[in-house]
Amino acid sequence: MKRRNFLQKAALGSVGITALGSSITATAATPKKAKDKQDVLASNSLLPVVIATWSVAQATKKAWQSMEQGSSALDAVIAGCGVEEANAQGQSVGIGGLPDREGRVTLDACVMNEKGDYGAVLCMQNIKHPIAVARKVMEDTPHVILAGVGAEEFAVSQGFKRENLLTEQSKKDWETWKKTSKYKPIINIENHDTIGMLAVDKNGTISGGCTTSGLAYKMAGRVGDSAIIGSGLFVDNEIGAATATGLGEEVLKTVGSYLIVELIRQGKSPQEACELAIKRIIEKTPNFEDFQVGYIAVNKKGETGAYSIHEGFTATTYQDQKNTTFNPNFYNEK
Ligand code: GLY
Repeated sequence: MKRRNFLQKAALGSVGITALGSSITATAATPKKAKDKQDVLASNSLLPVVIATWSVAQATKKAWQSMEQGSSALDAVIAGCGVEEANAQGQSVGIGGLPDREGRVTLDACVMNEKGDYGAVLCMQNIKHPIAVARKVMEDTPHVILAGVGAEEFAVSQGFKRENLLTEQSKKDWETWKKTSKYKPIINIENHDTIGMLAVDKNGTISGGCTTSGLAYKMAGRVGDSAIIGSGLFVDNEIGAATATGLGEEVLKTVGSYLIVELIRQGKSPQEACELAIKRIIEKTPNFEDFQVGYIAVNKKGETGAYSIHEGFTATTYQDQKNTTFNPNFYNEK
């Protein structure tokens, strides 16, 4: 989609996303104030809902089932993200994540609950489930962020097991990369990195989580957007939630997830808000051809949105008893 068409399309009241041949349409009717909450809950046929970045049907199913069994939206997100963190074949989060330039797997994750509480771990090694540690930081410490060795030691003190997260495959890929790469991120490959998940339970209670091994072959100590409140994730239980995947540096500079939630607060649909947040990056970043960013969002009613700069981004919803993985619209249509 060329820029002019994008702007025209973004100005419309509702925008569709292609969903494996069908169309999911998000409308602009979004609650702005807490007093609208009862109206929203009176029409909550879209609830409960789970939406996640990428093709993670097992993860969204796990989150959905968790809510069906009576768990909170926060429990659902931790359980859902945990599926991907434990998947050693996946090279973007948890065990098997691609390492930094020195061969160290360092993980970032955060959670937010319906009270606006936040917890995060940054650049943590040797612990497979950073999302669960982030929750512990939120619930069991006086802080909101723990980083590096401190995060790892805290995790161990809470009963998490230390383990080697660098699988044979990821080690092999890193060794090949060292021989051949010029350290230039490749759209949808080295950026293909993050599981963000948003859940809204049947009562309209919203929580979210975001977990990643970060940009593959990053500099040692580099932290992206995923664990940073407002950038990789933001939840406002009165309004909605958003989360991001892609090149964290660009999400951080535009505080993308917070921007999306604020746009929903102003009356945009989740779809419109995701498109406007991508537009913000494009306006400010002349080299947007060189990297990928994708956003997903949900509002209190359970309406969802998803959008990215380039083709190749996928998202998965679990809604109305079924999993749907789809290719959202994107800006840079050739
Ligand atoms: N979006 C993940 C990162 O840039 O680290």
